[in-house]
Amino acid sequence: MFGSIQEVKDKLTAQNYLINDNSATAVYLAVRLQKPLLIEGPAGVGKTELAKAAARALDTELIRLQCYEGLDESKALFEWNYQKQLLRIQANHLTDRTWEETKANIFSAEFYLARPLLKALQAEKPVVLLVDEIDKSDEEFESFLLEALSDYQISIPELGTVKATSIPVVILTSNNFRDFSDALKRRCIHLYIDYPSFARELAIVRLKVPGVNKVLAEKLVAFVQSLRKMVLKKSPSISETLDWARTLVLLGVETLDEEIVMNTVNILLKYQQDINKVADRIGGLLPE
Ligand SMILES: Nc1ncnc2c1ncn2[C@@H]1O[C@H](COP(=O)(O)OP(=O)(O)OP(=O)(O)O)[C@@H](O)[C@H]1O
Ligand SMILES: [Mg+2]
Repeated sequence: MFGSIQEVKDKLTAQNYLINDNSATAVYLAVRLQKPLLIEGPAGVGKTELAKAAARALDTELIRLQCYEGLDESKALFEWNYQKQLLRIQANHLTDRTWEETKANIFSAEFYLARPLLKALQAEKPVVLLVDEIDKSDEEFESFLLEALSDYQISIPELGTVKATSIPVVILTSNNFRDFSDALKRRCIHLYIDYPSFARELAIVRLKVPGVNKVLAEKLVAFVQSLRKMVLKKSPSISETLDWARTLVLLGVETLDEEIVMNTVNILLKYQQDINKVADRIGGLLPE
């Protein structure tokens, strides 16, 4: 449990996740108010990593539900273990059990496989449930999830109502592929994570790529930050900054010049049209 906003910051920092005040406040409130945290923001700004780091910081298990188009309740909640059911049917066939008895038998707790959502609700101690990329799931799934999260219980026809043994810390992430219903937004604490400030990005680079010297780290972060001010098809995110820093260290680069940037800019930019745009003004973008 987090006792204060400062504790959120300290414990996440201890897990190598550097968080700003705004995000730390949202995490604190979500955990204390037992509300799901809905994180939106561009790719690679640390949405998923926040959930992972929070689980480590809270010293608990992370249960991940990766969303995709067509994800349905059974994949999220539970599935009958058909193989085991079939074996039991075969075995019962050899006895004088009636079909009614067998049916009652094979649709019981012994015969299902708990999927992430049910696992999270049935865990002995509160876990972190990461519902990753919820915008990729369908709206029907969103409403189902909403219902499950609104009172932390689920009704399953064959099993009745399953109430949470412990209330999980729920973190939902989205890349803004689609808008969410007002109901979902109302239910959650909303957090938008943007690209980091220069200071925070520099700290992340120095933490995660210890081989990079201070001056080079400052220059490469300043360069990435200036790219983000341009209109690009895809701005570089923290993951690209880290990849670039590792690349430069691997190549033994001590300082940035036009040639080295041109030869490695494909690590930062993933579209040729962006690379062309930047190539024209690389000199001007490089920090002094
Ligand atoms: N605040 C941070 N402190 C430390 N590392 C960070 C931070 N934010 C991001 N990172 C690093 O950046 C990388 C990308 O983070 P992550 O995968 O969580 O992004 P994401 O927002 O989930 O992206 P996507 O939308 O593509 O799933 C990871 O390697 C992560 O460790
Ligand atoms: Mg992610």
